[in-house]
Amino acid sequence: MKKPKTIIITGANRGIGLQAARDLASDGHMIIMTSRDLKKGVEASKEVPGEPIVHQLDVTDSKSIKDFAKFIEEDVNRIDVLINNAGSVFDDMAATTNQPLDTSMEVLRKSFDLNFFGVYELTKSLLPFFDPEGRTDVINISSGMGSLTDMGGGVPAYRFSKAALNAFTVYLGNNMNSKNLFVNSVCPGWVRTDLGGPNASRDVKDSTQALRYIINEEPDHNSQFLRDKEIIDF
Ligand SMILES: NC(=O)c1ccc[n+]([C@@H]2O[C@H](COP(=O)([O-])OP(=O)(O)OC[C@H]3O[C@@H](n4cnc5c(N)ncnc54)[C@H](OP(=O)(O)O)[C@@H]3O)[C@@H](O)[C@H]2O)c1
Repeated sequence: MKKPKTIIITGANRGIGLQAARDLASDGHMIIMTSRDLKKGVEASKEVPGEPIVHQLDVTDSKSIKDFAKFIEEDVNRIDVLINNAGSVFDDMAATTNQPLDTSMEVLRKSFDLNFFGVYELTKSLLPFFDPEGRTDVINISSGMGSLTDMGGGVPAYRFSKAALNAFTVYLGNNMNSKNLFVNSVCPGWVRTDLGGPNASRDVKDSTQALRYIINEEPDHNSQFLRDKEIIDF
């Protein structure tokens, strides 16, 4: 590892976010775990080595984002990595795919609020605090389901919101005009979490490979989509 980094993880109280906190803390980094329910975050932090900071953050709530950015400005000052992990599926998983436009506007809006608008607003609020000197990263946890080259059936609102997230990755990475900010999307694979369900192919322990690769090995990838160490199609 090159140097210990200060890493913010959203939705770090369970699933892939909590595993990322465990793994990256074991790698020697300083972790800021955020959780929309502070108590759940504090409880989860007991499983994380070192002394992670825990802070409340609901990424769909502008006031919560503002309060968190103020905390970073006043108490932390400089950050190296933002992992936009918080996300969910609001589609009816059991719905058939032969009526593709059955998804309600409510489900579409909730999906975009969490998986896209939340990422946009939080990233914008935190950009001023990225260390201007060293390497910095925004890593968006996306999904192969948002890939335009693999736009199969089912969970349309989730797919559209993750495709928009991927567009944000490419746009921000291409337009920051900053030599030290790298922006990438990663797909963790199909993982056994509350979201992925018990039949998923991957244990959560195997879901953080791309994150550790980008943060610890610092490849030059920017505006890319990775699964583990491989670049995949958007
Ligand atoms: N599991 C998979 O197979 C898979 C595959 C591809 C991509 N992903 C992506 O990986 C990420 C993590 O998924 P996961 O499987 O770990 O899901 P999970 O176990 O359901 O955990 C989701 C996390 O997001 C948090 N969250 C939900 N709404 C939030 C909000 N408004 N503000 C802040 N946090 C919020 C949850 O907090 P609460 O506990 O408060 O609800 C929880 O900590 C997601 O972006 C997901 O789309 C997962």
